[in-house]
Amino acid sequence: MQIQLAENYGFCFGVKRAIKIAEDNKNSSTYGPLIHNSKEIARLEDDFQVGLTDSHKVFKAGDKAIVRTHGIQKQELEELKNNNVNVVDATCPYVTKPQEIAQNMSEAGYSVVIFGDEAHPEIKGVKSYATNGALVVTSSKELQDIKLKEKIALIAQTTRKVEDYMEVANYLIPRYKEVRVFNTICNATFENQEAVLNLSKKADVMLVIGGKNSSNTKQLFSISKDNCADSYHIEDEKDLDFSWFKNKKLCGISAGASTPDWIIQNVIDTIESKID
Ligand code: F3S
Repeated sequence: MQIQLAENYGFCFGVKRAIKIAEDNKNSSTYGPLIHNSKEIARLEDDFQVGLTDSHKVFKAGDKAIVRTHGIQKQELEELKNNNVNVVDATCPYVTKPQEIAQNMSEAGYSVVIFGDEAHPEIKGVKSYATNGALVVTSSKELQDIKLKEKIALIAQTTRKVEDYMEVANYLIPRYKEVRVFNTICNATFENQEAVLNLSKKADVMLVIGGKNSSNTKQLFSISKDNCADSYHIEDEKDLDFSWFKNKKLCGISAGASTPDWIIQNVIDTIESKID
């Protein structure tokens, strides 16, 4: 069986940047997981003594707090700074951008609509910047019974599919006087999505490697599954089931934006050691 990697996969610019920041700030802690990959977080803890806390309240004056890639809520950031915590910001610049848009458009009197997952840390953060509040939706259906202001600013979670975002924009545009649609979808996600689409069309079996809580890995898996019925979302080589590869000629591999290369390589090595 042949193994082929997607043309683009794995770590994106924002994650590489955040890991470098963490490695450069030994003996500190991140508030919330730096990235959505528990194994890489364990490596940072073991090799660089970068800890993890689930509350910003544990930091005291003089402590070093790394703000994770997905960003945190505005009020929490302000609290850390007011408490003289040494804040090291590893928020991806592609996440800082929608935060700024949410703040500016909210202050300018627009209804801010965010297309994304309300429970995701990125969206909790972006929403907190909309001074006058924001509505978070996952499809246009959720907008049907809601009356918004005449001026709307539409923002997407960085990892959303363009087609789904357009569906929400298409609903709003004919119904409101002014709809400003900001393309806040991250290119890294888009490139990985396009590559998994192309590969899953020709592969007999597809593996999408990434954390089970990683939103962009789930998106890649959903695209893969649409084109290749034998698609599997795995976190690492331990999730492999070798019966998947029986009578298969081409195994395609993609990985989420927070999956390190060493995990991908472990998967490939494990398959190659068991399958001809
Ligand atoms: Fe940033 Fe895009 Fe990665 S938003 S963290 S570069 S997927």
